Amino acid sequence: MDDAGARTALARADILLPDPVPQHPLLDGLREIGRGEYSIVLDKGDGERVMKIVSSPADYFLYTADDRPRGPHFPIVHVDHGVIGRACSGYPFHLVEMEHLWPIASGTEAARLAKSLIDSYFQGCQQWIRLGANMGRIALYHLTQSPPASIQPSMLDALKSLSDFTESYQVQPDILNPENLMVRRDGTLVFSDPVFIA
Ligand SMILES: Nc1ncnc2c1ncn2[C@@H]1O[C@H](COP(=O)(O)OP(=O)(O)O)[C@@H](O)[C@H]1O
Ligand SMILES: [Mg+2]
Repeated sequence: MDDAGARTALARADILLPDPVPQHPLLDGLREIGRGEYSIVLDKGDGERVMKIVSSPADYFLYTADDRPRGPHFPIVHVDHGVIGRACSGYPFHLVEMEHLWPIASGTEAARLAKSLIDSYFQGCQQWIRLGANMGRIALYHLTQSPPASIQPSMLDALKSLSDFTESYQVQPDILNPENLMVRRDGTLVFSDPVFIA
């Protein structure tokens, strides 16, 4: 497999959650603006917040746990609206009201930073691929130990808290897929969806 093929396989980018948006008064009339393998994102319409329907327990822990990673590179979660249904996968759907983020525009500082993080993390995954289920967590740990040279202290802190979170919750990092990194309006790079459960 070539590099691009290996990345696509590891990033699992092309599967989408098949479920319809669950019926819920808070979701009536809202426009769907994003969908991944485990989540559906609806625009709240105020330019500030989205309603995110998450089925992955990893995402639910990340957005709501008391000891979740916080700081400038993690999304701000406003309200946990609780369980609003069940996905066909069997997992409950949790509704989380959180900050609206935007795709990373090419040519920006955030795009360069995201690329350097993804590239370094990918190299780690290739190096530790024989560790199977532990590959991603070890690759992320090594990224915290030898980060890209130009990394800011706040991003290094974010990588360390993400690494600690993946260890304590035994979830997998999911930062190979560039769609899991987004930006805030001011251009700050945010790990919008950095974990999954294998
Ligand atoms: N906070 C957000 N604001 C706006 N769009 C978002 C937000 N979070 C995710 N999205 C969009 O929704 C898509 C799916 O979200 P993601 O969290 O990656 O779901 P999954 O857990 O299914 O991978 C993303 O690729 C992105 O385009
Ligand atoms: Mg995703």
